[in-house]
Amino acid sequence: MSAATTSPPSTRGVAVAVRDIHLAFGSNRVLRGVDLDVPAASTACVIGPSGSGKSTLLRVVNRLIEPERGDVLLDGRSVLADNPDALRQRVGMVFQHFNLFPHKSVRGNITLGLTRLKGLRKDEAAELALHHLDRVGLAHKADVRPGNLSGGQQQRVAIARALAMEPEVMLFDEATSALDPELVKGVLATMADLAAEGMTMIVVTHEMGFARSVAEQVLFMDHGQVIEAGHPDQVFDAPRTERLRRFLSQVL
Ligand SMILES: Nc1ncnc2c1ncn2[C@@H]1O[C@H](COP(=O)(O)OP(=O)(O)OP(=O)(O)O)[C@@H](O)[C@H]1O
Ligand SMILES: [Mg+2]
Repeated sequence: MSAATTSPPSTRGVAVAVRDIHLAFGSNRVLRGVDLDVPAASTACVIGPSGSGKSTLLRVVNRLIEPERGDVLLDGRSVLADNPDALRQRVGMVFQHFNLFPHKSVRGNITLGLTRLKGLRKDEAAELALHHLDRVGLAHKADVRPGNLSGGQQQRVAIARALAMEPEVMLFDEATSALDPELVKGVLATMADLAAEGMTMIVVTHEMGFARSVAEQVLFMDHGQVIEAGHPDQVFDAPRTERLRRFLSQVL
């Protein structure tokens, strides 16, 4: 390796790298040395019991909370010193509760960030909003209010809103777990489409079928640590630890 190498080889081709992240809330040590590598254009699914630190990990990647120790790198470069608002344009996030503005149209919910954060003109923002609504199959709903959509459609609007910022990475935190069962499939299909289009994604999910069919990599977290990580076939069919075996027996 030459001394002139700008990024360490361990992060080359890795869109997102999380290095030895530690974080506590008071005496509760929520993340205890978490490492994660997500190659560009791949999907990593994070599974694990409630309270294991999955949401906190995503919030660290998106700089909604600062870790006590460790680093987060995008394309091999640390982002912990960057402006968090700038970072959040590079890393989109979709939550369980989609938090759309009820008094704005679907289109208006998407153009808001484009005009305010990206400085686009109104007509440019409206055109881009429509393009991303079309990606999630909802261009025909641009003029209605979110309250007139199903939960699954609202979540797809939230996905379009995140995509409209043209992020390099998308984070999903249990994006389907507040939905009625019959609406889950459509949102998972939208997420699978995104993965197939080459988006880099970190997906916290209880949908083991999705993890198995879409993820290149599955990580099992427990008590603030990644206990096992690997290809879905290995994690689901040949778990190495008793903890993962027990977890899978409860969720599968
Ligand atoms: N803002 C906060 N202040 C204090 N404690 C917090 C905060 N956020 C999370 N915690 C604690 O951190 C731990 C991990 O929470 P986290 O939300 O990351 O878990 P999770 O794996 O996402 O769980 P779930 O599957 O239930 O969503 C829990 O013990 C939780 O109570
Ligand atoms: Mg959570």
